[in-house]
Amino acid sequence: MAFEIESLKSEILNCTKCDLSKTRNHVIFGEGNLKAPIMVIGEAPGHDEDMIGRPFVGKSGQLLDKIFAACGFTREEHIFISNIVRCRPPGNRVPTKEEAAVCMPWLLQQIELIDPKILILLGSTALKYMAGQEHRITRERGNWIEVKNRLAMPVFHPSALLRNPDLKRPTWEDYKKIVYKYRELVDPNHYSAHV
Ligand code: URA
Ligand code: URA
Repeated sequence: MAFEIESLKSEILNCTKCDLSKTRNHVIFGEGNLKAPIMVIGEAPGHDEDMIGRPFVGKSGQLLDKIFAACGFTREEHIFISNIVRCRPPGNRVPTKEEAAVCMPWLLQQIELIDPKILILLGSTALKYMAGQEHRITRERGNWIEVKNRLAMPVFHPSALLRNPDLKRPTWEDYKKIVYKYRELVDPNHYSAHV
């Protein structure tokens, strides 16, 4: 397991399967506990992530960390964070279908190795590439779905919450469901100050 993840990591960090490799500063492998019960899937690295080499470190990431703190989840213990695409699309555009198609196998291998009990799909891109293009985040968020034989919760992307703060309250209800499910499946004594 440790060997497999290390060799996957070095393959990912050296990937040149698409043109994003020509403009990137860093490949963002992902971050967190390699045995995490929860895997969080975003869209693609942005400017800050590309500069630093870690996922979700910009404004969206800071909001995500606040939400996870309220749930009692940390990157060190409960979570592994990855993305549909591991290199920054120039100008933060949405990844193309081709970019997603060449990068997704890395994500699927990470999911197999980490073997999480719960997937959190952040926003439309994560939902569509994991579950299928016909899926709609506004319709399905807050409802458990099954993807790749795993339990998954689609939620709004934190950048959507930053653009539209009215989405924060309903989104918190979605994260509460994740805490309840975590207690049911992983740790009945999981502590959260807010749930
Ligand atoms: N937005 C994402 O979808 N992923 C990141 O890693 C950072 C911002
Ligand atoms: N549109 C998106 O792309 N993501 C969201 O989370 C909400 C709307």
